[in-house]
Amino acid sequence: MVAILGFSKEQITEAVRAMYGSVADDPNQGFHFPVGRPAALAVSYPEEELDRLPQAAVDRFAGVGYPFLAGVIRSGDTVLDVGSGSGTDTLLASRLVGKAGRVYALDITTHMLARLQATLGEAGIGNVETIEADAEHIPLPDNSVDVMTSNGVLNLVPDKRKACAEIFRVLKPEGRVQLSDIVITRPVPLGGRSDPKLWAECVVGASVDEDYLELFRETGFVDVEVLGEFDYFSTSPSADTRHIASGLGARSVTVVMRRPREAAGTAGLERLGWLARRMHPRRLKAITGRGLWGAVAAVAAIVACYGVIAFLALLSVIGVSIALPEGAWAAIIFAAAALVAIATGFNLPRHGRPWPLVATALGAALIGYIAFVSYSPLVEALGFIVLIGGVTLDLYEIYRAECTSARIETAAARTVPER
Ligand SMILES: C[S@@+](CC[C@H](N)C(=O)[O-])C[C@H]1O[C@@H](n2cnc3c(N)ncnc32)[C@H](O)[C@@H]1O
Repeated sequence: MVAILGFSKEQITEAVRAMYGSVADDPNQGFHFPVGRPAALAVSYPEEELDRLPQAAVDRFAGVGYPFLAGVIRSGDTVLDVGSGSGTDTLLASRLVGKAGRVYALDITTHMLARLQATLGEAGIGNVETIEADAEHIPLPDNSVDVMTSNGVLNLVPDKRKACAEIFRVLKPEGRVQLSDIVITRPVPLGGRSDPKLWAECVVGASVDEDYLELFRETGFVDVEVLGEFDYFSTSPSADTRHIASGLGARSVTVVMRRPREAAGTAGLERLGWLARRMHPRRLKAITGRGLWGAVAAVAAIVACYGVIAFLALLSVIGVSIALPEGAWAAIIFAAAALVAIATGFNLPRHGRPWPLVATALGAALIGYIAFVSYSPLVEALGFIVLIGGVTLDLYEIYRAECTSARIETAAARTVPER
């Protein structure tokens, strides 16, 4: 079970199914996001394309962009529509691939797929197959799909990395991806994700734009290109949603990319590229943004101390013995412990509570004592326990402060009258 900051994958899936099940059952009841033909026109679907589609599908359209801008679907292709909903995009793809092609419409919401099946039957469309499944576990063989299309879905998926890996797996080498989705500019405060309903409305499950594109590159996709973006939530009928979305810098992006042809001998180079991307300054910025430098330094202190001992023990088992420059070793351990206290000090303005700093400073002092004054295993263990306790407390206080600010912001948004 994947737990996302206080609530489980099952809770999200249930909220998503409930939300889009009610779109399938009655699209006119009024939602916090635009639905139906006006929504499709607002995100740039050409009117004449919509006119050619069964209206039952278009009436339940809930996409966030126009992924067909990418123009990557060809006659005869096998296409997978991930999160097809009532099937506006599935049906457009079905026309593009023609009789020689095939479209798989995959969704977790039973009612959406039931509606799509009825539409397919009524319109006599034979090249579409519906699949009730989760994007994180796509029940299709490896290398079986030419194009993956998706509209407004990945932001709703709890484990986006897994879904991306699944999409990559089912695509053929040189397979193409076209998708529209929601991204944000500022990370959602930790406590802001504690409402599965907001998640199901495409707001708080979204990723920060750079992380989102990086995820595709890390999965192995190449030529990842943003074709366009716009302020999707400005058309939301809900003042709450508009306010929260604008606070996060939420917008719709349309992206195209492809799975590379498998090239022998590039695995090592690709691995190097992947490592370089992981060390990119903007990733390090994300560690700062989340207040995690204290935790990173604590891990470094533990590795420097116990990791080195374990390594030396391992070497001695195979008969190699190394004389350790003990002064330098002690200095490195103490420096890492002191960095924990410094990082906790930098986090102080985020929550205003002095206890994490007091604890990490005490932990660092105890480690300094055993490193430079007098060694005692008991004091050493105590030093590390207090240090880690301080870091944990620090992260908890950041989480609490962000929960409070998210609640205040949401409450402020709810005082704005609905349109
Ligand atoms: C915003 S709607 C978009 C529907 C459709 N693409 C359209 O443009 O009308 C999102 C759809 O994704 C589906 N969905 C959400 N999470 C999913 C998941 N993990 N796996 C498969 N489908 C999912 C929902 O059931 C819903 O039908």
